[in-house]
Amino acid sequence: MAGESQNWVLMVTAQTPTNIAVIKYWGKRDETLILPVNDSISVTLDPKHLCTTTTVAVSPSFQQDRMWLNGKEISLSGGRYQNCLREIRSRACDVEDKKRGIKILKEDWGKLHLHIASYNNFPTAAGLASSAAGLACLVFALAKLMNVKEDESQLSAIARQGSGSACRSLYGGFVKWIMGKEENGSDSLAVQLADEKHWDDLVIVIAVVSARQKETSSTSGMRDTVETSLLLQHRAKEIVPKRILQMEEAIKNRDFASFARLTCTDSNQFHAVCLDTCPPIFYMNDTSHKIISIVEKWNRSEETPQVAYTFDAGPNAVLIARNRQTAALLIQRLLYYFPPNSDDLDSYIIGDKSILQDAGLKGINDVEVLPPPPEIKDNIPSQKYKGEVNYFICTKPGRGPVLLADEDLALLNIDLFYPC
Ligand code: DP6
Repeated sequence: MAGESQNWVLMVTAQTPTNIAVIKYWGKRDETLILPVNDSISVTLDPKHLCTTTTVAVSPSFQQDRMWLNGKEISLSGGRYQNCLREIRSRACDVEDKKRGIKILKEDWGKLHLHIASYNNFPTAAGLASSAAGLACLVFALAKLMNVKEDESQLSAIARQGSGSACRSLYGGFVKWIMGKEENGSDSLAVQLADEKHWDDLVIVIAVVSARQKETSSTSGMRDTVETSLLLQHRAKEIVPKRILQMEEAIKNRDFASFARLTCTDSNQFHAVCLDTCPPIFYMNDTSHKIISIVEKWNRSEETPQVAYTFDAGPNAVLIARNRQTAALLIQRLLYYFPPNSDDLDSYIIGDKSILQDAGLKGINDVEVLPPPPEIKDNIPSQKYKGEVNYFICTKPGRGPVLLADEDLALLNIDLFYPC
């Protein structure tokens, strides 16, 4: 190891998006390697609004591997972190920073320790796939720091061992996680179906129904499902393989009607499988059910679906609108039913706020006079549910992981070796 002094620190910062599954992963055939019982497909969300930023640093002065998540130190002793660290370290190559006179040889990586700082720009464990972005970012950043030569697909197979859905965050746009057949998991990896520019009309609105920690983790929930649900076996064997082909076709042809039908049906089947688990798992709540009804009613009143909904392991709704015009109509409906608790529209709709202008909503006064949506005109007066949604995030399909070259964006302080 060159670099006579022990004081040098080499670091890399990366940003990785989160993803929302439109054909769900639920159930493992191997718990340790994290091998799924079916393929899944996701849409990567714009990292501008939902992402993890991770700085990884190496220095001969570090005594042990350490990690901070959102400023708080967390343990790296868990099997999943250890598996990812081991897999990445085993693929490390020589690294040289000529300007600073630092050279790390391939064989040195096993002796050097790492400091890792990670930050999510959205609530952790609120059903917004923070583990997906987090583990993908850890693997991607370490691969860059250690000059790992493997491509994104091969890296996805490492991220998969941290958290299954993380493997789909190594790409932007539309991504398929191929379940694979091999016992060692080498062919269970993610591939990109289309990049984010392929279908850039889509607008995504997330209703954050509850930002509290979820009750049943995905990991233990799906373990119970595999052990007890016959419906899951039917889903994995008979339903998903056909649905995957139909979804790939819908994405390829930008066929929104098929895309929406498949997305909603698959979300509902995932939650049916949760209900078929012993003991049953309830991820959606009354507010989630109200959002489904609003969208279903609207879609049925139109010739063709306007919006798709999907829910992961939590009550938050992810709504995908066919285009900006539809997204504006969606926001009008959402604000009609779920008006904000306070006058502050600015903190109630976050992310791409320009949708508000499209919807003609400049302030709270405009929200207060919103007319009821036409599809419920015969059933007036309709109920409103103030306070049931914490806030909405407006976003769109986005790009895959990137390195952040600007050192000011690093989360570790090069002089102090502690999270800044
Ligand atoms: C409902 O990837 O969080 O979001 O592999 O045990 O870490 P582990 O589970 P995780 O499960 C995600 C499940 C889901 C559906 C999906 O993202 O496909």
